[in-house]
Amino acid sequence: MIKPKISFSCILVGIACIAISAIPQYSHYTQDRWKAPSWADTLKTPFHREPLTLANGEELFGLYCASCHGDTGYGDGAAGGALGQKPANFHDTLVSKQSDGALYWKLSTGNGNMPPFQDVFTAEQRWQLVAYLRKLTDSE
Ligand code: HEC
Repeated sequence: MIKPKISFSCILVGIACIAISAIPQYSHYTQDRWKAPSWADTLKTPFHREPLTLANGEELFGLYCASCHGDTGYGDGAAGGALGQKPANFHDTLVSKQSDGALYWKLSTGNGNMPPFQDVFTAEQRWQLVAYLRKLTDSE
């Protein structure tokens, strides 16, 4: 009579372990998501969104971001596959619903595998990138 009980509890423990180990896969979409501080929402671009802004943003994106985020921003760049944490998909509403300021803050500050671009680019270049990220999802 004891044996079946032990194996039953072993199964329960096994199920519990599988359930717990599955959680981190979802944490990206829940409480552990990388959040910009709320003041970042007040940051606004001082630059006009004109064809040159978007063209420069596109060029920078192709050179510095597409390797991880993919050519069209779906987070499927070649270099991204090797990372523990997947590069963001800019077409996901979790990203596209964020303010320009939040995205500007994030690409300036970096997090984990996402490099900080604060000292790499001027403020104008970083806003060009934000403008281009917006253009990617304009028609969605
Ligand atoms: C080495 C790979 C890599 C490169 C290069 C890279 N990123 Fe990222 N990026 C990431 C990863 C990984 C994340 C997810 C970080 C997280 O959620 O903590 C991310 C997240 C982001 C986010 C936040 C999205 C969100 O989930 O809210 C923005 C914005 C962003 N990247 C913009 C850029 C821009 C613009 C460039 C180019 C100038 C760039 N990234 C280059 C890997 C990269």
